[in-house]
Amino acid sequence: MEHSPEVQKQYFQFAYQTGSDIWTHLPYRYTAEEMLPDFERDALVLDIGAGRGLWAAKLVGLGYRVLGIDYVKDIVEKVNARIREDGYADRARFMVGNALDIPFTDTSFDLVTDIGTLQHITSDQWDDYVGEISRVLKTGGYFLKISLSRKTAQFMGWSPRTSTDGNFTKFGVHYHFFTENEITDTFGEAFMIVDQQFQTYESKSDPGDNVTLVFTLMQKK
Ligand SMILES: C[S@@+](CC[C@H](N)C(=O)[O-])C[C@H]1O[C@@H](n2cnc3c(N)ncnc32)[C@H](O)[C@@H]1O
Repeated sequence: MEHSPEVQKQYFQFAYQTGSDIWTHLPYRYTAEEMLPDFERDALVLDIGAGRGLWAAKLVGLGYRVLGIDYVKDIVEKVNARIREDGYADRARFMVGNALDIPFTDTSFDLVTDIGTLQHITSDQWDDYVGEISRVLKTGGYFLKISLSRKTAQFMGWSPRTSTDGNFTKFGVHYHFFTENEITDTFGEAFMIVDQQFQTYESKSDPGDNVTLVFTLMQKK
């Protein structure tokens, strides 16, 4: 099946509805947390493609205030209801929004995080994406991005490591596996890369699959 943005959105919606969102429980948060720069308590963070809001909850636990956006309305409503029940609705809020048209004003955030969202956006839209992240960040603010890496050996019967372009489509969903050069080429003009790490995790996508994730911390120039 060809990639289709509408089918892709339905895929995420269906995965959250049925609990088949196998990405939610990858243990990335340990490395991600280690890489975070020091911020004042109450620093404002935007999480792009926030999904079930588990990373946002972690950030609230670290003392930050968090806004999350996701383009799947049902998950946004569910997460807002949960944070009210859990009693931290004064520290976090989720809104329906697209990474390519972020519903917040310029220079609002100390930190933006994206865990697994840019990898589902096609490369013809990466410049728009970078423009939006850069627009909402304060000068000197940080951006932490976690994406699928081209170092991945096997994913759903396909080998990202030996692929020439890193693009893969399954069930109408687009996946991009990033090289370090692609990250530098895409972000280098607007951001300075501060730290980059790789971690490999067992993935439930197919038996024998492992995914390598690339963690990149950048600072807005
Ligand atoms: C692989 S999941 C990761 C979710 C979450 N960050 C996590 O780590 O569990 C990608 C998320 O991005 C959302 N998403 C994909 N494209 C988006 C876009 N253009 N704008 C906003 N959200 C998007 C999906 O709905 C999904 O929740």
